[in-house]
Amino acid sequence: MAARGEFSSRTAFVLAAAGSAIGLGNIWGFPIQVASNGGGAFVFTYIILTFLLAYPVLMAELIIGRHAKRDTVSSIVVLSGPRSRWLAYLTGFWGMLTASLILSFYAIVAGWMLAHFFGAGANLLGQTDLKQWFVSNSLTRNLIFCVAFYALTISIIARGVTSGIERWSTRLMPMLLVLMVLLIAYIATQPGAAEGWRIYWQPDFSQVANPDLVLDALGQAFFSLSLGVGTMMVYGSYISKSENLPRLGASVAILDIGVAVLAGLLVIPAMYVAQHNGVTIYDAAGNLLASDSLIFTVLPALFETMGGAGVITSILFFSLMTIAALTSSISMLEVPVAYASDSLGMERRRASYMVGGLVLLISVLIIFNFGALFGLVIAFTTKYSEPLIGLLFCVFVGWIWARNEILQEIQQGAEGAENSLFWRIWPNYVKFVCPLLILLLFWRSLA
Ligand code: TRP
Repeated sequence: MAARGEFSSRTAFVLAAAGSAIGLGNIWGFPIQVASNGGGAFVFTYIILTFLLAYPVLMAELIIGRHAKRDTVSSIVVLSGPRSRWLAYLTGFWGMLTASLILSFYAIVAGWMLAHFFGAGANLLGQTDLKQWFVSNSLTRNLIFCVAFYALTISIIARGVTSGIERWSTRLMPMLLVLMVLLIAYIATQPGAAEGWRIYWQPDFSQVANPDLVLDALGQAFFSLSLGVGTMMVYGSYISKSENLPRLGASVAILDIGVAVLAGLLVIPAMYVAQHNGVTIYDAAGNLLASDSLIFTVLPALFETMGGAGVITSILFFSLMTIAALTSSISMLEVPVAYASDSLGMERRRASYMVGGLVLLISVLIIFNFGALFGLVIAFTTKYSEPLIGLLFCVFVGWIWARNEILQEIQQGAEGAENSLFWRIWPNYVKFVCPLLILLLFWRSLA
């Protein structure tokens, strides 16, 4: 087996894992959910669920990964006994399939972001026809930009853990934060923004107990922390044995929540600035325009009303989206690529091109059958697979893996972990509370 990579520092891991967690789910998904789910009530529920349900599952993934220091499938198999081996293979392969399918739809959306970025650039250069082509939905455009986005993703993954994932995460994540703060500050000065800020912070507490809201918040928390497919497990397998895992996991969760909340401060006020400038932001039924019309209709329309500043704002905004998507997509591709190189012994570069090429074929299939497949793949992966695989991870950690071995793993890099608050709460929590809560919410989503 070729030497495996390892993150060279704590910061490198935190930025890479935060890069995975912070993606379109934060900047696009989260504000939409807030807008359509009672404003601050959703923010509140989402933060609580991240700590109660998502952080413990994140820790399960990180601990399993660092223990085995192998790809996802082998990592789970290592913990299983003869009787649970079949379940370990099932969980590992299902996770790998889910990671690949998430990438297959995510890259299509990321391609749209890239196209809009080029559209804004063409606008700046006064090329209005070209700009129109970039921002109009067409089969050719979607194919070209999806392939371009795969090329970026694959070329980073092919370079390996330190010179690929780590180097690009540590370059791109600070850029992302700066872009975000610049955009928030600029939008906040525009007329109408104050209304958005007010609505964002105003929680409609009657909504907190709404089961649909809770379910949406759970799905959002899982997707946002990249859980339930082995992404965090494989990133965990590249953490050095001298690092304190509970603390690293907490940093990642806090960054992820922080950027989601910041994204709300960007997108929600922007919608009200748009309204102030005469752009329609409510549909006929009086609901805020959400999903794709928010990003691809409302915001571009807003940028149009802002003149020269709007062109720059739109370039910054779509580069923000593309960067966020890229640091996430590499983490999805890493799951099957790690399997191909760790377990099948393929050379990393070759594995990246082959696996990346295969997943690209799935994307092409979806682009050609968009109406039938796009929503289906999203539902299968995010609504069903992620929570259920997350549940299986909890089962392995809570019921199958010997508790003293788990403690030994955590103690590496965290001396005295046996007396920590984390160790007093977390083991029983992943054993009983997380599986029950996931099942309960899952059962409700079927009903
Ligand atoms: N968390 C990312 C986002 O919020 C998406 C993501 C990256 C992901 N890797 C994942 C989602 C693995 C699920 C599983 O956009």
